[in-house]
Amino acid sequence: MTKILEESPILLQQPLDAHTHLLRLGARQIAREVQPGQFVHIKQISSGNSLLRHPFGVAATDLKNGTVDIIYREIGAFTRTLTTLSSNDTLSVLGPLGHGFDVTCHRALLVGGGTGLAPLLFLASLLGPQKADVLMGGRTKSELFWQNLYRPFVAKIFVTTDDGSCGTRGTVMAALPSLLTQGYDRVYTCGPSPMMQAVAGACAAQKIPCQVSLERYMACGLGACLSCTCKGREKRLKVCTDGPVFWAQEVEW
Ligand code: FES
Repeated sequence: MTKILEESPILLQQPLDAHTHLLRLGARQIAREVQPGQFVHIKQISSGNSLLRHPFGVAATDLKNGTVDIIYREIGAFTRTLTTLSSNDTLSVLGPLGHGFDVTCHRALLVGGGTGLAPLLFLASLLGPQKADVLMGGRTKSELFWQNLYRPFVAKIFVTTDDGSCGTRGTVMAALPSLLTQGYDRVYTCGPSPMMQAVAGACAAQKIPCQVSLERYMACGLGACLSCTCKGREKRLKVCTDGPVFWAQEVEW
């Protein structure tokens, strides 16, 4: 697939909670091409800053207005700098990169935590309420602003919180086993690695095909530097070009 490099103006920078932000970029060509699960590689250019590129899963696109949304959490120097940018700034955006989700399902459960819910949001918008429900986990109620973002795209929203302030108390694993008996023919998951490993194990036990979207540091995003590799069942996997989406059984956890 062709990779596109766009100089993208920031059109919107919106806080979603104390540490999470939505960034809307003008990236008309990438918006046309990107599929759910693929990512973009971003570098700041308007300040002359030569920071390396950083990967972000795409959370939404708007083809009419030619925009790409990412949702990021403020962790580390790069994302701290991102929070200071405004509509006067421009980012260099390379994409779409990697392989996205296989969407040949009839009824899917999307299982996510933290910013892992961002690429799943784009997937939900493609599948729609006829095909998708979501199970989301967070530490506490304030982290689950995601419910409002998902509402137009899914039939049911299931919630867990570590402190029991919203939904079922516990991790997503407190709710998942019983949900997996309700006729889903596919599970998609993205979030912390222990969560995805547990979700993959529960799906294997119920013989439900599961796709996982792995998150790794990616220096080049193009398969050249090997900074993103992880252990696979049959070979070492490059998350940037073999993934970031894999069938769960391809990954050695
Ligand atoms: S990021 Fe360089 S090989 Fe994957």
